[in-house]
Amino acid sequence: MSAFRYTHAIVCRIPDSYKSNALGITSPIDLAKARKQHESYVAALREIGLDVIELPADETHPDCVFVEDTAVVCNGTALITRPCHPSREKEVDYMRTILKNELELPVVEISDKSATLEGGDVLFTGKEFFVGLSNRTNEAGACALASAFPEFPCTPIKIDNHLHLKSMLTMAGPDVICVASAPEAKDALKRIEREATFRYQTVTLPDTYASNVVFANGVLLHRSGDEYPESAKILEEKLSHWTLKGMDFSEMEKADGCLSCCSILIRKTRHLKNIM
Ligand code: GLY
Repeated sequence: MSAFRYTHAIVCRIPDSYKSNALGITSPIDLAKARKQHESYVAALREIGLDVIELPADETHPDCVFVEDTAVVCNGTALITRPCHPSREKEVDYMRTILKNELELPVVEISDKSATLEGGDVLFTGKEFFVGLSNRTNEAGACALASAFPEFPCTPIKIDNHLHLKSMLTMAGPDVICVASAPEAKDALKRIEREATFRYQTVTLPDTYASNVVFANGVLLHRSGDEYPESAKILEEKLSHWTLKGMDFSEMEKADGCLSCCSILIRKTRHLKNIM
Protein backbone atom coordinates (compact mmCIF):
# COMPACT_ATOMS: atom_id res chain seq x y z
CA MET A 1 0.00 0.00 0.00
CA SER A 2 2.80 2.44 0.84
CA ALA A 3 3.86 2.33 -2.83
CA PHE A 4 0.63 4.15 -3.60
CA ARG A 5 0.96 6.80 -0.91
CA TYR A 6 2.08 10.15 -2.20
CA THR A 7 2.80 13.60 -0.83
CA HIS A 8 3.18 15.67 -4.02
CA ALA A 9 1.93 15.88 -7.57
CA ILE A 10 3.29 17.86 -10.50
CA VAL A 11 0.82 19.00 -13.13
CA CYS A 12 1.01 21.52 -15.98
CA ARG A 13 -1.68 23.92 -17.16
CA ILE A 14 -3.04 23.63 -20.70
CA PRO A 15 -1.62 26.05 -23.29
CA ASP A 16 -3.75 27.61 -26.08
CA SER A 17 -1.59 25.65 -28.56
CA TYR A 18 -3.03 22.39 -27.16
CA LYS A 19 -6.26 22.95 -29.09
CA SER A 20 -4.66 22.73 -32.55
CA ASN A 21 -1.14 21.41 -32.14
CA ALA A 22 -1.24 18.60 -29.58
CA LEU A 23 -0.22 15.26 -31.07
CA GLY A 24 -2.86 12.76 -32.11
CA ILE A 25 -5.95 14.99 -32.06
CA THR A 26 -8.95 12.91 -33.12
CA SER A 27 -11.76 15.47 -32.92
CA PRO A 28 -12.11 19.21 -32.20
CA ILE A 29 -11.03 20.16 -28.71
CA ASP A 30 -13.09 22.56 -26.59
CA LEU A 31 -10.27 24.41 -24.83
CA ALA A 32 -12.44 25.96 -22.12
CA LYS A 33 -13.91 22.56 -21.32
CA ALA A 34 -10.43 20.97 -21.33
CA ARG A 35 -9.25 23.55 -18.78
CA LYS A 36 -12.33 23.00 -16.63
CA GLN A 37 -11.78 19.23 -16.65
CA HIS A 38 -8.12 19.74 -15.82
CA GLU A 39 -8.98 22.08 -12.95
CA SER A 40 -11.33 19.43 -11.49
CA TYR A 41 -8.53 16.86 -11.81
CA VAL A 42 -6.11 19.14 -9.96
CA ALA A 43 -8.74 19.81 -7.29
CA ALA A 44 -9.21 16.04 -6.87
CA LEU A 45 -5.46 15.57 -6.39
CA ARG A 46 -5.52 18.28 -3.71
CA GLU A 47 -8.54 16.64 -2.04
CA ILE A 48 -6.60 13.41 -1.63
CA GLY A 49 -3.96 15.27 0.31
CA LEU A 50 -1.34 16.02 -2.32
CA ASP A 51 0.72 19.14 -2.42
CA VAL A 52 0.20 20.03 -6.09
CA ILE A 53 2.88 21.93 -8.01
CA GLU A 54 1.18 23.54 -11.01
CA LEU A 55 3.53 24.43 -13.84
CA PRO A 56 2.50 27.31 -16.10
CA ALA A 57 1.19 26.48 -19.57
CA ASP A 58 4.03 26.37 -22.08
CA GLU A 59 2.82 27.56 -25.51
CA THR A 60 5.90 26.14 -27.24
CA HIS A 61 4.94 22.65 -26.05
CA PRO A 62 1.31 21.88 -26.99
CA ASP A 63 1.41 18.51 -25.17
CA CYS A 64 2.94 19.88 -21.96
CA VAL A 65 -0.20 18.98 -19.96
CA PHE A 66 0.85 15.32 -20.30
CA VAL A 67 3.63 15.62 -17.72
CA GLU A 68 3.72 11.90 -16.93
CA ASP A 69 5.83 11.29 -20.03
CA THR A 70 8.72 13.48 -18.88
CA ALA A 71 9.93 11.71 -15.72
CA VAL A 72 9.57 8.51 -13.72
CA VAL A 73 9.72 9.10 -9.99
CA CYS A 74 10.02 6.10 -7.71
CA ASN A 75 11.62 5.37 -4.35
CA GLY A 76 12.82 8.95 -3.97
CA THR A 77 14.67 9.08 -7.32
CA ALA A 78 13.62 10.86 -10.51
CA LEU A 79 14.59 9.48 -13.91
CA ILE A 80 14.36 12.11 -16.64
CA THR A 81 12.94 10.42 -19.72
CA ARG A 82 13.76 10.88 -23.41
CA PRO A 83 10.40 11.52 -25.13
CA CYS A 84 10.38 10.15 -28.63
CA HIS A 85 8.51 12.80 -30.56
CA PRO A 86 10.62 15.88 -31.50
CA SER A 87 7.85 18.25 -30.42
CA ARG A 88 8.05 16.82 -26.90
CA GLU A 89 11.81 16.33 -26.40
CA LYS A 90 12.39 19.62 -24.62
CA GLU A 91 9.48 19.23 -22.20
CA VAL A 92 11.92 17.45 -19.89
CA ASP A 93 14.04 20.59 -19.34
CA TYR A 94 11.57 22.38 -17.11
CA MET A 95 10.61 19.15 -15.35
CA ARG A 96 14.25 18.48 -14.49
CA THR A 97 14.54 21.90 -12.84
CA ILE A 98 11.40 21.37 -10.75
CA LEU A 99 12.39 17.88 -9.62
CA LYS A 100 15.94 18.95 -8.78
CA ASN A 101 15.49 22.42 -7.36
CA GLU A 102 11.97 22.52 -6.00
CA LEU A 103 11.52 18.93 -4.83
CA GLU A 104 15.24 18.35 -4.21
CA LEU A 105 15.11 14.83 -5.61
CA PRO A 106 18.18 13.02 -6.90
CA VAL A 107 17.85 13.14 -10.68
CA VAL A 108 19.13 10.44 -13.05
CA GLU A 109 19.71 11.16 -16.74
CA ILE A 110 19.67 8.70 -19.64
CA SER A 111 23.09 8.80 -21.30
CA ASP A 112 22.23 6.50 -24.24
CA LYS A 113 21.28 8.87 -27.06
CA SER A 114 19.51 6.05 -28.92
CA ALA A 115 17.10 5.51 -26.02
CA THR A 116 13.53 6.73 -26.07
CA LEU A 117 11.32 6.41 -23.02
CA GLU A 118 8.00 8.00 -22.08
CA GLY A 119 6.41 7.73 -18.65
CA GLY A 120 3.11 6.59 -20.19
CA ASP A 121 4.83 3.33 -21.01
CA VAL A 122 6.00 2.76 -17.45
CA LEU A 123 3.74 0.73 -15.17
CA PHE A 124 4.94 0.45 -11.57
CA THR A 125 2.97 -2.13 -9.61
CA GLY A 126 4.52 -1.26 -6.27
CA LYS A 127 6.81 -4.27 -6.57
CA GLU A 128 8.10 -4.29 -10.14
CA PHE A 129 8.11 -2.33 -13.39
CA PHE A 130 6.63 -3.22 -16.75
CA VAL A 131 7.68 -1.03 -19.62
CA GLY A 132 5.80 -0.88 -22.91
CA LEU A 133 7.86 -1.20 -26.05
CA SER A 134 5.75 1.07 -28.20
CA ASN A 135 6.16 3.64 -30.94
CA ARG A 136 7.43 5.97 -28.20
CA THR A 137 9.63 3.73 -26.03
CA ASN A 138 12.39 1.43 -27.26
CA GLU A 139 14.53 -1.30 -25.72
CA ALA A 140 17.33 1.10 -24.87
CA GLY A 141 14.77 3.20 -22.99
CA ALA A 142 13.57 0.12 -21.10
CA CYS A 143 17.20 -0.71 -20.19
CA ALA A 144 17.69 2.84 -18.91
CA LEU A 145 14.65 2.41 -16.65
CA ALA A 146 16.00 -0.90 -15.35
CA SER A 147 19.41 0.70 -14.60
CA ALA A 148 17.85 3.65 -12.81
CA PHE A 149 15.82 1.43 -10.47
CA PRO A 150 17.93 -1.74 -10.01
CA GLU A 151 16.05 -2.57 -6.82
CA PHE A 152 12.95 -3.61 -8.84
CA PRO A 153 12.44 -6.21 -11.58
CA CYS A 154 11.79 -4.46 -14.90
CA THR A 155 10.13 -6.34 -17.76
CA PRO A 156 9.63 -5.04 -21.30
CA ILE A 157 6.20 -5.69 -22.81
CA LYS A 158 5.73 -5.31 -26.55
CA ILE A 159 2.54 -3.42 -27.30
CA ASP A 160 0.58 -2.82 -30.47
CA ASN A 161 -1.93 -0.24 -31.64
CA HIS A 162 -1.87 1.99 -28.58
CA LEU A 163 0.07 5.09 -27.75
CA HIS A 164 1.41 3.76 -24.45
CA LEU A 165 1.21 0.69 -22.21
CA LYS A 166 -0.86 2.67 -19.73
CA SER A 167 -3.33 3.63 -22.48
CA MET A 168 -4.81 0.19 -21.86
CA LEU A 169 -3.88 -0.92 -18.34
CA THR A 170 -3.02 0.73 -15.02
CA MET A 171 -2.93 -0.11 -11.30
CA ALA A 172 -6.30 0.21 -9.58
CA GLY A 173 -4.93 -0.63 -6.15
CA PRO A 174 -2.13 -2.72 -4.66
CA ASP A 175 -1.85 -5.89 -6.79
CA VAL A 176 -4.89 -4.99 -8.93
CA ILE A 177 -4.46 -4.27 -12.62
CA CYS A 178 -7.29 -2.49 -14.39
CA VAL A 179 -7.24 -3.61 -18.01
CA ALA A 180 -9.28 -2.89 -21.13
CA SER A 181 -11.13 -5.75 -22.83
CA ALA A 182 -9.69 -4.87 -26.28
CA PRO A 183 -7.63 -7.72 -27.80
CA GLU A 184 -4.34 -5.75 -27.71
CA ALA A 185 -4.87 -5.03 -24.00
CA LYS A 186 -5.59 -8.69 -23.28
CA ASP A 187 -2.41 -9.62 -25.16
CA ALA A 188 -0.36 -7.14 -23.13
CA LEU A 189 -1.89 -8.51 -19.93
CA LYS A 190 -1.04 -12.08 -20.95
CA ARG A 191 2.57 -11.04 -21.49
CA ILE A 192 2.61 -9.33 -18.11
CA GLU A 193 1.15 -12.37 -16.37
CA ARG A 194 3.65 -14.66 -18.08
CA GLU A 195 6.69 -12.57 -17.16
CA ALA A 196 5.65 -11.12 -13.80
CA THR A 197 7.67 -11.75 -10.68
CA PHE A 198 4.55 -11.25 -8.56
CA ARG A 199 0.87 -12.16 -8.95
CA TYR A 200 -1.91 -9.69 -9.66
CA GLN A 201 -5.68 -9.64 -9.74
CA THR A 202 -7.40 -7.95 -12.66
CA VAL A 203 -10.48 -5.86 -13.28
CA THR A 204 -11.51 -5.78 -16.93
CA LEU A 205 -13.34 -2.80 -18.40
CA PRO A 206 -15.13 -2.58 -21.75
CA ASP A 207 -13.92 0.96 -22.49
CA THR A 208 -10.22 1.25 -23.30
CA TYR A 209 -9.83 4.85 -22.13
CA ALA A 210 -11.54 4.00 -18.84
CA SER A 211 -8.83 1.45 -18.06
CA ASN A 212 -6.47 4.31 -17.30
CA VAL A 213 -7.08 5.16 -13.64
CA VAL A 214 -5.07 6.86 -10.92
CA PHE A 215 -4.82 5.17 -7.53
CA ALA A 216 -3.36 7.34 -4.79
CA ASN A 217 -3.75 7.52 -1.02
CA GLY A 218 -6.67 5.06 -1.01
CA VAL A 219 -8.62 6.99 -3.65
CA LEU A 220 -9.29 5.78 -7.19
CA LEU A 221 -9.73 8.49 -9.80
CA HIS A 222 -11.51 7.00 -12.79
CA ARG A 223 -13.48 8.09 -15.85
CA SER A 224 -16.95 9.25 -14.84
CA GLY A 225 -20.19 7.34 -15.24
CA ASP A 226 -21.38 10.15 -17.55
CA GLU A 227 -18.54 9.35 -19.95
CA TYR A 228 -18.21 5.59 -19.53
CA PRO A 229 -21.23 4.22 -17.62
CA GLU A 230 -20.48 0.51 -18.01
CA SER A 231 -16.87 0.81 -16.90
CA ALA A 232 -17.74 3.10 -13.98
CA LYS A 233 -20.37 0.59 -12.80
CA ILE A 234 -17.87 -2.27 -12.85
CA LEU A 235 -15.37 -0.26 -10.81
CA GLU A 236 -18.08 0.70 -8.33
CA GLU A 237 -19.06 -2.96 -7.93
CA LYS A 238 -15.57 -4.43 -7.73
CA LEU A 239 -13.57 -1.75 -5.94
CA SER A 240 -16.09 -0.26 -3.57
CA HIS A 241 -13.61 -0.66 -0.69
CA TRP A 242 -11.73 2.36 -2.08
CA THR A 243 -13.05 5.90 -2.32
CA LEU A 244 -13.98 6.25 -5.98
CA LYS A 245 -14.08 9.58 -7.77
CA GLY A 246 -15.33 9.85 -11.35
CA MET A 247 -13.68 12.43 -13.59
CA ASP A 248 -14.70 13.84 -16.97
CA PHE A 249 -11.68 13.89 -19.25
CA SER A 250 -13.07 13.90 -22.79
CA GLU A 251 -10.97 16.84 -23.96
CA MET A 252 -7.70 15.17 -22.95
CA GLU A 253 -8.81 11.92 -24.55
CA LYS A 254 -9.19 13.78 -27.87
CA ALA A 255 -5.39 14.17 -27.89
CA ASP A 256 -4.82 10.59 -26.74
CA GLY A 257 -4.45 11.67 -23.12
CA CYS A 258 -5.61 9.78 -20.05
CA LEU A 259 -5.95 10.48 -16.34
CA SER A 260 -2.48 9.25 -15.41
CA CYS A 261 -0.86 11.27 -18.22
CA CYS A 262 -1.60 14.55 -16.48
CA SER A 263 0.39 14.13 -13.27
CA ILE A 264 3.60 12.86 -11.80
CA LEU A 265 2.93 11.53 -8.31
CA ILE A 266 5.72 11.67 -5.76
CA ARG A 267 6.23 10.43 -2.23
CA LYS A 268 8.76 12.64 -0.61
CA THR A 269 10.04 11.28 2.66
CA ARG A 270 10.62 13.96 5.20
CA HIS A 271 14.14 13.94 6.57
CA LEU A 272 14.64 15.16 10.08
CA LYS A 273 17.63 17.46 10.07
CA ASN A 274 19.82 18.55 12.95
CA ILE A 275 18.19 16.33 15.52
CA MET A 276 21.45 15.74 17.39
N1 GLY B 1 -0.90 13.80 -27.29
C1 GLY B 1 -0.09 13.03 -26.42
C2 GLY B 1 1.08 12.46 -27.12
O1 GLY B 1 0.95 12.10 -28.28
O2 GLY B 1 2.16 12.39 -26.60
